[in-house]
Amino acid sequence: MNVVVIPFFLAAHLTVDEPWEHGPEYTFQVQVNCTAIPEEGIYGSVRLNLVSKLICQPKGNHLLSCHFEDSKANSFVVDSLDPSESVVPAGLVNRQPAYEINEDQFEIKFNKRGLDSLMVNENIQPRELDMIRMIVGQLSVGAALDGVGNDIIFDAMENFTQGECYTTFKIDKKLVGRPLYTKPSYALKPVFGLKDGKLAQIRKIRNLHMCSHKVPYFFGNAESFREESDIMSDISLSDGHIIITSTEFISGTSNVITTSKITETVITTLYENVRVRLETIQAAKSEPPAVKEAEPASVFIGRWIINDSSEEDN
Ligand SMILES: *[C@@H]1O[C@H](CO)[C@@H](O)[C@H](O)[C@H]1NC(C)=O
Ligand SMILES: *[C@@H]1O[C@H](CO)[C@@H](O)[C@H](O)[C@H]1NC(C)=O
Ligand SMILES: *[C@@H]1O[C@H](CO)[C@@H](O)[C@H](O)[C@H]1NC(C)=O
Repeated sequence: MNVVVIPFFLAAHLTVDEPWEHGPEYTFQVQVNCTAIPEEGIYGSVRLNLVSKLICQPKGNHLLSCHFEDSKANSFVVDSLDPSESVVPAGLVNRQPAYEINEDQFEIKFNKRGLDSLMVNENIQPRELDMIRMIVGQLSVGAALDGVGNDIIFDAMENFTQGECYTTFKIDKKLVGRPLYTKPSYALKPVFGLKDGKLAQIRKIRNLHMCSHKVPYFFGNAESFREESDIMSDISLSDGHIIITSTEFISGTSNVITTSKITETVITTLYENVRVRLETIQAAKSEPPAVKEAEPASVFIGRWIINDSSEEDN
């Protein structure tokens, strides 16, 4: 049985005796790690780590119907100034419920290039919607890749959650130089084909000086990007990477954002790593629930959407 994991991009071949009555259910492990380093003030950095599960079922060929489960966010202060260093918190760990995503059902619509739009409960908080956008944005490739060859580099405008920018895509397929994480019950099949034992890597380097839109968003930010604000932010780096083998799909983004208050001179640098990894494909127990009080929403961060007369204006 073949199932659509990410519409237009990734399918899976399942070795099951009988087709699943309610189709498959995908569980993605979600990690969002943020490190804030003030230019001065404290010696050390503040970390915020969120772990969650994103559970999705395909609905037709273009939609995934999803919700989050088991979100847990913590913050703590560490001595290390290296955001890539994995550290054990030395002191107090604070639970951060405001960063834990609600479990309401929503839908993601895809097109050939990636995410197209969302369908959400009309009462969703804008801040929550932005956090969802940032995470599910990892399921977006950003370019149509059907039939691409082995090692290619190309540039294209890419729509992603924080804007529309000129992006360099680098795709290479190589032999997996390590034992495969074994999940023998399925084989993943990306749209460009991938032989057994091979790994495909897609890197996206966003040229943030060449954007038609750009929003200096950081995870959990509650700013409205339309209104006058006393916080100035700029995004200085945004790189994406996707790794696919016959058993793995991992997609992540690294962002660097600088932010400061107009009234203060201290600049804080924020380093963010978001990662979504396919964990399991199982038989769904029922059809996906409908989205309650459903309203379409753009995939773009902030209150701006393409059609300005939308409900997000209210
Ligand atoms: C997030 O932090 C944890 C703990 O330091 C680490 O194990 C994990 O790999 C990090 N994930 C990402 C996406 O950076
Ligand atoms: C990005 O999204 C906008 C609005 O939906 C659309 O007009 C534009 O063509 C898209 N660009 C790309 C490169 O997909
Ligand atoms: C924007 O949305 C309104 C109401 O939903 C619709 O009447 C209008 O045609 C849309 N405009 C564009 C440019 O899509």
